[in-house]
Amino acid sequence: MMNVLIVGSGGREHAFTWKASQSNLVGKIFIAPGNAGTSIEPKAENIDISSSDIDALVTFSKKENIDLVIVGPEDPLVNGITDELKKVGIKCFGPESMGAQLEGSKDFAKAFMKRHNIPTAGYESFTNADEAKKYIQENKLPKVIKADGLAAGKGVVIIEDYEIAFETIDEFISEKKYGDASRKIIIEDFLVGQELSYIVMVNGTEYLPLATSQDHKTIQEGDVGLNTGGMGAYSPVPFVNDELDTIIKEEVIEPTVRGLSEDGIPFRGFLYAGLMIDSSLNPKVLEYNCRFGDPETQPIMLRLKSDLIDMIHACFSGDIGNYEIEWDKRSAMGVVMSSEGYPESYETGKEISGLDGLISKNDIKVFHSGTSLDSEKVLTNGGRVLCVTALGDDLSQSNERAYTAVEKLDWDGKYYRKDIGFRVMK
Ligand code: AMP
Ligand code: GLY
Repeated sequence: MMNVLIVGSGGREHAFTWKASQSNLVGKIFIAPGNAGTSIEPKAENIDISSSDIDALVTFSKKENIDLVIVGPEDPLVNGITDELKKVGIKCFGPESMGAQLEGSKDFAKAFMKRHNIPTAGYESFTNADEAKKYIQENKLPKVIKADGLAAGKGVVIIEDYEIAFETIDEFISEKKYGDASRKIIIEDFLVGQELSYIVMVNGTEYLPLATSQDHKTIQEGDVGLNTGGMGAYSPVPFVNDELDTIIKEEVIEPTVRGLSEDGIPFRGFLYAGLMIDSSLNPKVLEYNCRFGDPETQPIMLRLKSDLIDMIHACFSGDIGNYEIEWDKRSAMGVVMSSEGYPESYETGKEISGLDGLISKNDIKVFHSGTSLDSEKVLTNGGRVLCVTALGDDLSQSNERAYTAVEKLDWDGKYYRKDIGFRVMK
């Protein structure tokens, strides 16, 4: 029986915990730091270590004889948690810092794609504000300005007028809005189409594609307003037929995996290609993530019938390419409930009601994100609070079930989008 440590505190980590707790291979699961939802899953125990405290996580893993660490968020990966655990002989699922650069530096990722002929938007990178402004002036809008480094999903601005472009360039480069992460920017061509999250498990040159998903990134209905971590997601994505799936594998996934190997960059973990698919089914990579998506994990884990821990184990032993993965044929949809004000400022500590009534409901799982326990009470403790996820015979049914459950949950200042799935439902 394995001791597993899951690093992170969001809905993604709750979904991993829930899935890992069902594995016969697992004896005990620790979550650092976890949330109210992770703490009540079978075999699970939260530990009070921040996901960014790599030293403390390594010390804990040694002390508790952890056999496998699964990392949810990108920061610890970019900062080398896998490298540090490797030094003490502990398996960590997630790339070492070199591979995590695919997410940690947009400039690195763009140069990688260019070098390996992977389709992506045209771009230039800049560290000099005047040169960036000159480039913007000489080019047609819209363009997209992105901070090179990690900015918690906030470092991307779609530019439709020159004034905003200049302001953004000043904020990013000169005023260092995101510190070192925005010292360098990239300016990219604007792409149109449908976005798709295509996530695979990778071990060196082998990979295993997971179910497709799509998320809604903005706070307001109609996919407008400020970008968030994601306000809802569903799986599978109906427009991904076999033809498109093959195109994505041949044009994006295989060259990426091959490119990493050619460049001598080891990669073992989830690799997430954020794609834009145009009307002729041409995929272009918007971004790579070196981890699973949140909230994409929640509907995907609800559909996964195979043992997640066994799959990860196969990734370490080198059999992932031939793994026979089993999915629930039904659809799953997750609706994120957040604190009013998110992604800007919001209050926490509000008591959530209605959770007990949903525990025994078949086909519905409420994954926690920003929650904490105060004796018996569950309190809000973050911007994204819950992801109410439901299975259904099709996306419309999973949507209906998820929203029926959402309406039973309440707290002072709750917010959710009422249109999750609008792009794919009749
Ligand atoms: P990223 O973090 O690079 O995925 O960007 C965040 C979001 O900004 C994406 O999910 C898209 O909705 C949007 N975006 C990023 N790059 C582009 C682009 N080149 N064209 C159009 N939209 C984009
Ligand atoms: N939902 C998008 C992400 O996890 O980056």
